[in-house]
Amino acid sequence: PYVLTEKEFMNQEELMYPFEERGLQFGDGVYEVIRVYHGEHYLIEEHVERLYRSAEAVRIEVPYTKEEMYKKLDQLLQLNEFTGDGKVYLQITRGTAPRDHTFPEGVTANLYAYVMDLPRKVEWMKQGVSAITQPDVRWDLCYIKSLNLLPNVMAKQAAAEAGSFEAILHRDGSVTECSSSNAYLVKDGAIYTHPATKNILHGCVRIRVEAFAKKAGIPFHEQAFTLDDIKSADEMFLSSSTAEVMPIVEVDGDQVAEGTPGTITQKLQQAYEEDAR
Ligand code: PDD
Repeated sequence: PYVLTEKEFMNQEELMYPFEERGLQFGDGVYEVIRVYHGEHYLIEEHVERLYRSAEAVRIEVPYTKEEMYKKLDQLLQLNEFTGDGKVYLQITRGTAPRDHTFPEGVTANLYAYVMDLPRKVEWMKQGVSAITQPDVRWDLCYIKSLNLLPNVMAKQAAAEAGSFEAILHRDGSVTECSSSNAYLVKDGAIYTHPATKNILHGCVRIRVEAFAKKAGIPFHEQAFTLDDIKSADEMFLSSSTAEVMPIVEVDGDQVAEGTPGTITQKLQQAYEEDAR
């Protein structure tokens, strides 16, 4: 398999990382996960735009222009003759230098991107998944897709150990998002989700979910809901590039409404299906 780096395409087996790499030592970098369907990127502009926004926020210079980046990402799929459903993982770090917290002088960014298979979670999307709730202990700049994922990893592991798919994160009872997806609640025919502030990642699928809702005439409120609201929710779902639009049918062991995917969630799933195909 081929992997894209900051300079060229390489054989994945030949890619070596220096031990004084700032991604490894500080998590000093940003990343993207881009969905691929039938060998084509989905929501590529949204991901590339967010990548540059994240990099700019932490003052890392992306080694390619946006136009080059689009071309390289296309080439990555072509070189690998990738025609199935998958995901591209791309990360950019500040670079390689003797360990010191401050930005090293004259350092240039390291980048790698590769593509892997990722079948759609069709069965879970049909039946819905369970989630647990966890305090959101992350920093204040969650709109940056940073490599520092330890709080997310801890929360998702807690979910996995509880037999759940995701961890719903809250700050003092107010739901921000999930460990690796955005969270939504449906009540009386309207959708509620945390506003796109610095406290959540502005999901590429979230942008689409809003558009699908508006097109279907479903009110979409960028208004945070609480843990208490979940108890009387009509529906819940989450969204991400890897999980698509996923119904949440159980939270902390309690059913959400009747414990089955709701009609608005299913409508959005259908809209996603049509858009992504
Ligand atoms: N995660 N919120 C968080 C914290 C995320 O990590 C993600 C994506 C999302 C959804 O963003 P998008 O719709 O652009 O995929 C929301 C990716 C999939 C990951 O880290 O694997």
